[in-house]
Amino acid sequence: MNTFERTEKYVLGNYGRFPVSFVKGDGAWIWDESGKQYLDFASGIAVCSLGHSPKCMQEVLREQSATLIHCSNLYHIPKQAELAEFIVETAVQLSGKVFFANSGAEANDGAVKLARKYFYDQNGNSDRFEVITCNNSFHGRTLGGIAATGQDKVKTGFDPLLPGFLHVPFNDCEALRAAVLDKTAAILFEPVQGEGGIHVATPEFIQTAVEIREQHGVLLMFDEVQCGFGRTGDWCGFRSIAPNVEPDVITWAKGMAGGFPMGAMWISDKCAGSLGPGTHGSTFGGTPLGSAVALAVLQEIGNTGCLDNVRNLENYIRERVEGWNFPHIQGLRGLGLMLGFILNEDAFGEVSPSPSIYLVNQLMKAGLLTVPAGASVVRWLPPLNTTKEEIDKAFEIMEDVIAEL
Ligand SMILES: Cc1ncc(COP(=O)(O)O)c(C=O)c1O
Repeated sequence: MNTFERTEKYVLGNYGRFPVSFVKGDGAWIWDESGKQYLDFASGIAVCSLGHSPKCMQEVLREQSATLIHCSNLYHIPKQAELAEFIVETAVQLSGKVFFANSGAEANDGAVKLARKYFYDQNGNSDRFEVITCNNSFHGRTLGGIAATGQDKVKTGFDPLLPGFLHVPFNDCEALRAAVLDKTAAILFEPVQGEGGIHVATPEFIQTAVEIREQHGVLLMFDEVQCGFGRTGDWCGFRSIAPNVEPDVITWAKGMAGGFPMGAMWISDKCAGSLGPGTHGSTFGGTPLGSAVALAVLQEIGNTGCLDNVRNLENYIRERVEGWNFPHIQGLRGLGLMLGFILNEDAFGEVSPSPSIYLVNQLMKAGLLTVPAGASVVRWLPPLNTTKEEIDKAFEIMEDVIAEL
């Protein structure tokens, strides 16, 4: 049996997979089983922040695994405490506390629990529990995650859903104001929607959420699972849009440990007391190994100029795309190195299953990995330390492929 056959026979068929299997990576490059080399601008869907197998991860994995892998949150964990300090002091720069999880969905579930518990602690009852999220959002695949997500396709067949969520159109300030009720506990959205097709929140939308928080006391929560920790060119994605906003909660996962499973939630001091001993937890949250890896990755992002690199390369990419005149491409959307090429679906004609997947397949055949987002957007999510030469190579491949469509 080859890998495809073995996967088909033994692995749950819950993913639509591209017909390739990867065995080795180095920086922005990855190799499949046949030895073919690809430029990887998918980065495991915004996970491999420093590319594949960066030296700092190899070293910290080797050293920490030889020292202490796991001990439990029954005890104090030095690397966990150091990581939390880095997140609070360097990344968020607002006083608060950090909870460690394993994934984005788990971090978001924690945020929803916090919103409920915070108002329970204030009011002594559970009347204030509703979380407003946005259409087209994506918050994960747990029962909480799919209820929070503003896309029907993730919910179908899973009724009854967790109650207490309301969705409003993204960037619609009036709809957001109109949705707030006495039972509203929180507003949760992605500063840059990823899975929904790379839509950037407007400063006005964020400001409206801030005003609602001031008027109604709701919590403001950002899902930065995909756009956080440098992807937009700032430590916090919302700061690339609305630098002075002070949220109550931020959630992360994906790129924060460069490929090691790790999620986290920062909670402002105002609310952090609501999740006291016995209210929430996770066996694998913030292990010595996971914390050491995340800390090494975040320090490397900070120490090697990745944030500036992201901003400079974004400008370079925008300039190049402005010069494009391809009927198949309508434009470019996004922030930093979280960019979506918007496809002109009509120009693609009858391609299956969708223009985005068709183009991703063609690019893959030509040696460039990208990620579809919905039917009509193709994402570039290169490592944060990718080089101008690699961007030029990606353009070369993409321009050749599009010209041939
Ligand atoms: C914005 C956002 N939130 C949450 C999630 C879920 O994260 P995970 O797959 O780690 O549970 C994702 C995953 O794509 C995401 O993009």
